[in-house]
Amino acid sequence: MKALINRRYGDPSAVLELADLPRPSPARGEVLIRVHAAAVDPGVWILVTGRPPAMRLMGFGVRRPKHPVRGRDLAGVVVETGPDVTTLAPGDEVYGTCDRGSYAEYTVAPVTWLARKPARLSFAEAAAVPVSGQTALAAIRAAGPLTGRRMMITGAGGGIGVFAVQLAIAAGARVTAVCGPGKAALMESLGVDRVIDYTRDEVDRDGPVHDVILDTAGCRPFPLLRRALTRTGRVLLAGGGHDAPGLLGGFTRQLRAPLLTTFARQRFRPVAGRESTAGLEDLSRAIDAGTLTPVIGRTFPLESGADAITHLAGGHPTGKTVITI
Ligand SMILES: NC(=O)c1ccc[n+]([C@@H]2O[C@H](COP(=O)([O-])OP(=O)(O)OC[C@H]3O[C@@H](n4cnc5c(N)ncnc54)[C@H](OP(=O)(O)O)[C@@H]3O)[C@@H](O)[C@H]2O)c1
Repeated sequence: MKALINRRYGDPSAVLELADLPRPSPARGEVLIRVHAAAVDPGVWILVTGRPPAMRLMGFGVRRPKHPVRGRDLAGVVVETGPDVTTLAPGDEVYGTCDRGSYAEYTVAPVTWLARKPARLSFAEAAAVPVSGQTALAAIRAAGPLTGRRMMITGAGGGIGVFAVQLAIAAGARVTAVCGPGKAALMESLGVDRVIDYTRDEVDRDGPVHDVILDTAGCRPFPLLRRALTRTGRVLLAGGGHDAPGLLGGFTRQLRAPLLTTFARQRFRPVAGRESTAGLEDLSRAIDAGTLTPVIGRTFPLESGADAITHLAGGHPTGKTVITI
């Protein structure tokens, strides 16, 4: 089978290559999937470049990637089930995540990280959902009740942002989207209350009016976020700065968050997405109800996977970047 691999860390265009590999076999609790589409997220960039260096100590491979095939999100069709799999069968259309690489014609994934693909989505649209959608879902849950409350989302036009905006609006929030100049029309089409173009205005433009801030862009200083937040509001840190220098890159920002909370009534806390069938099924329900629709900025064929990751690494993708296989 064809697969996009990197056997060493480095710049995507230098280290990624198309290879011919044997098909994997599903182990207990896993299924073999013919992958039709996969998406790109900053986590993939981290596993291609090996940056920030601390991530190499987290089991991904110190000198080189432990598993060579890249990609986490996927949508495709089950072709074989491993022992003890009772919930899925060959022919089922699924979406979800895997840890053996989805930029390949075939991959294996645990059934507990998969759900049936929503019928109204194409494979490309479904592949756009899992990592960013589940992170956005975790953030909306951490936000608490949102009916009538004001929520600011930085990086609103990016991978996590486009899901978070829609989930927040569906939960009753009045959303302020912080994004670059090319994304105001998209944000308005999704139903946001206000748009802050960060090239013209700062996030504290309207004063301390936001009950919740979801920070996915990870680049505005904490004092500025505080000035946009009500006295008892909360800041949820989803990420950002993964490409910042240093051993931990931008992750220092998440590590500092609990310390800030100690000294203030305003709360800062990191949020992380989790792979789960239940989370995907919650997203499927919103998709079926029409309150959540994936936004795909660009699509690339598998052979151009390095270009897809370079596009994301440029820092200004619109919604999700998808690879078709
Ligand atoms: N916690 C978790 O479980 C989890 C899961 C996945 C990802 N992450 C992390 O979360 C971060 C965001 O991920 P993502 O997939 O949403 O990334 P993404 O798709 O690259 O989106 C980032 C967005 O930020 C916008 N942006 C850039 N500079 C900005 C600024 N100064 N102010 C506001 N927006 C700005 C970019 O476009 P414009 O400039 O054009 O608006 C882009 O749309 C990454 O660091 C990633 O590693 C965390």
